[in-house]
Amino acid sequence: MRHSTLRQLEVFEAIARLKSFTRAAEELFLTQPTVSMQAKKLADEIGLPLFEQVGKKIYLTDAGKEFYQTCLVIFEHFSRFEMIASDMKGLKSGKLRLAVVTTAKYFTPRLLGMFCQKYPGIDVALKVTNRERVLERLTNNQDDLYILGQVPDAIDAVAEVFLDNPLVVLAAADHLLANEKKITVDRICDEPFIMREPGSGTRMATERFFLEHNHKLKVRMELGSNEAIKQAIVGGLGIAVLSRHTLALDAPMGQLAILDVEGFPIERHWYFAYPSGKQLSIVAQTFLEYLRQASDYLEDLSCRHAISGHCPLLKNE
Ligand code: PGA
Repeated sequence: MRHSTLRQLEVFEAIARLKSFTRAAEELFLTQPTVSMQAKKLADEIGLPLFEQVGKKIYLTDAGKEFYQTCLVIFEHFSRFEMIASDMKGLKSGKLRLAVVTTAKYFTPRLLGMFCQKYPGIDVALKVTNRERVLERLTNNQDDLYILGQVPDAIDAVAEVFLDNPLVVLAAADHLLANEKKITVDRICDEPFIMREPGSGTRMATERFFLEHNHKLKVRMELGSNEAIKQAIVGGLGIAVLSRHTLALDAPMGQLAILDVEGFPIERHWYFAYPSGKQLSIVAQTFLEYLRQASDYLEDLSCRHAISGHCPLLKNE
């Protein structure tokens, strides 16, 4: 076992948690053959198989289950040490591990940019993925902080609202409904709809809205990215419900219109969250405080101008 590397443990932990070599490779930015090879080397070192494959499914063997628990303890100790070490160094250095939902990418990197200008020694690891995956990471305590929509009651987490997230109906600017007022939900349901992928928070809120109004959407297409959806709208493929934040960056200028539909915008909010009982590092606490202050600026103009580089917050107060 002495020859096993930390990287191999990391690879093993990801496969065991995700029950998939492909997803583990994706998460670690490795190729699948590399992941398989590392897992095999580890099993050879241990002298016991750690996984078994039945059909397409991966299962942990008994040795694999024991080893998974050992890995969790090792990683927990490492991250506690990292935290102590960076707290000892104060804010001069340290790491901030953030996981945010896809739609939060429209403001998070810029917020981080300003934060890092003030604390240049802090390294940031930012994971952007959909709501379902972020909740999975939160449950597994994989990062320092999370930015997402409301956290389900079933997950034991501390969560605080810091920003509004209005969901609007978007259509091509030359759509025949673009200039209409007070469009009914009924009327919207006649239009072909473009929907985010399963697991997306935007999709969940949209489905809930139409279900509550007893309406069924004509979903023409599912796409896993807000950007692809905006392009599809401009291309005349349909209309969609997306966060207004998605208009902040690279919006196909003047080619999209927000429709005036009854009941919209759907009022959603951005929360930061972390597992209850988690001991936050000084770096994470400082970032939280920064988010709380930044929310005042972000509220304004759906954060577009405030985050485009002139947020007064970080000009050495
Ligand atoms: P999404 O999440 O990017 O996964 O759609 C956004 C949200 O929860 O509002």
